[in-house]
Amino acid sequence: CDKKELRGLKVAVTAGPTHEYIDPVRFISNPSSGKMGYAIARAAFQRGADVTLISGPSALRPPAGIRIVNVVSAEEMFDACMEAQKSADMIVKAAAVGDYRPARRAEQKIKRGASGGLTLELVQNRDIAAALGKIKRSGQILIGFAAETQHVAENARRKMAEKNLDLIVSNDVSAAGAGFASDTNAITIFRRGGEAESFSGTKEEAAHRILDAAAELIVDR
Ligand code: PMT
Repeated sequence: CDKKELRGLKVAVTAGPTHEYIDPVRFISNPSSGKMGYAIARAAFQRGADVTLISGPSALRPPAGIRIVNVVSAEEMFDACMEAQKSADMIVKAAAVGDYRPARRAEQKIKRGASGGLTLELVQNRDIAAALGKIKRSGQILIGFAAETQHVAENARRKMAEKNLDLIVSNDVSAAGAGFASDTNAITIFRRGGEAESFSGTKEEAAHRILDAAAELIVDR
């Protein structure tokens, strides 16, 4: 069969930002639109995969034919990923998961105070990719992203090793026409111990490049 097909494979893709609530009407987040992850989910579906898309809050329409699990916070995304990993052959972590959440979520809207300032205490969220890397089954493929603003290659390779990923896709999120919210991206795909490959184009095209590299890792096909 065509090596680049993903027929019969179960693929889980995460996409979008997370919202870490401070009080009922305010949250901490990032500019992820979900475009990169949704493009990967669609590309995997086109290649015959059985796709689950775990999505943080996004304005995008859920792609037809794809199972969608909507989550809000990093903790919810953690739980959804743990559930999906039980049966997934491949997991692609394109979401921009919040690294921190408020230590407490106020039950009522926080009022403007007389004193001017407000100090928030933040606690670190669990690293989902690292947790998935620890329990990865033999043959299961785990693909991460690295959103960097400096030392892109070095940071990407370090994250791949630390999180036990099979591939990592870096994007320089400070470059124009790449990263958050744009329709295009400039990516570099790093393989374990292997060569890296750079690509610039639409997120749809980038998604297919990533799945081409992922398909190389599938054994017994
Ligand atoms: O959604 P778009 O607008 O299309 O933008 C796409 C994107 C820029 C969000 C996407 O291409 C991207 O880079 N996603 C990963 C962003 C990110 O969180 O990178 P990071 O370097 O902080 O994290 C590295 C990896 O660890 C990522 O795979 C991330 O999903 C994962 N992670 C991070 C924190 C955490 N608590 N758990 C995680 O699993």
